[in-house]
Amino acid sequence: MKSGVFLVFEGIEGSGKSTQAELLTKALTEKDVEVDLTREPGGTEVGDKIRAVLLDSSLDEMHPRTELLLYLAARAEHIAKRIRRKLFVDKAVVICDRYMLSTLAYQAGGRKIDVKTVSRLGKFATGGLDPDLTVLVDLDVERAFARLDRTHDRIEKAGTEFHLRVRKAYLEFARRSPARIRVFDGAKEKMTLHEEIKEVVYDLLTRKGIL
Ligand code: TMP
Repeated sequence: MKSGVFLVFEGIEGSGKSTQAELLTKALTEKDVEVDLTREPGGTEVGDKIRAVLLDSSLDEMHPRTELLLYLAARAEHIAKRIRRKLFVDKAVVICDRYMLSTLAYQAGGRKIDVKTVSRLGKFATGGLDPDLTVLVDLDVERAFARLDRTHDRIEKAGTEFHLRVRKAYLEFARRSPARIRVFDGAKEKMTLHEEIKEVVYDLLTRKGIL
């Protein structure tokens, strides 16, 4: 069945991934492409409520398995209520700020939950829906955190060691799947990076007959 295109932006906090997702959305919208920009956890009413629990900085004792299941619960809802319709009915380009690779990087890499378990539960939550392309905006932890001026939420407060493991996990997954996960240098100037990402995405959208 012909469908839309599913693009995911990933990276540690402060990497610039959300800015890049917004810039790409704007560029595609200006080309009259139907785009749905969404994020995880969130993107639905239930997902936004789960997000509030997950990022509540007064709840720092959440068990890692609870955390994993909440991220996956928000994702299951997101796919069932929004992403599948956008992709398979509206045939839109879905741009999702974080998806399954975040769970693999943070809950398997960061929280050290067995990666096979995370993958297996992830498949159950997503029904096996994978992105067409993941844009990984990579930046070292120190620089990324220096960019964050807001008060740190529960996950951001997890510490430098945790985020070093997250970044390492991201890069390791990207190394193993270079065609599906493209790494971009988050240290580059915002618009330079946007141009580089656009080139790769436009190539994919041209091949899919969308551009
Ligand atoms: P955001 O601030 O980039 O929207 O991300 C929310 C936080 O949730 C961020 O610290 C990363 C974390 N997260 C996970 O730990 N696992 C996940 O599966 C997702 C989607 C996000």
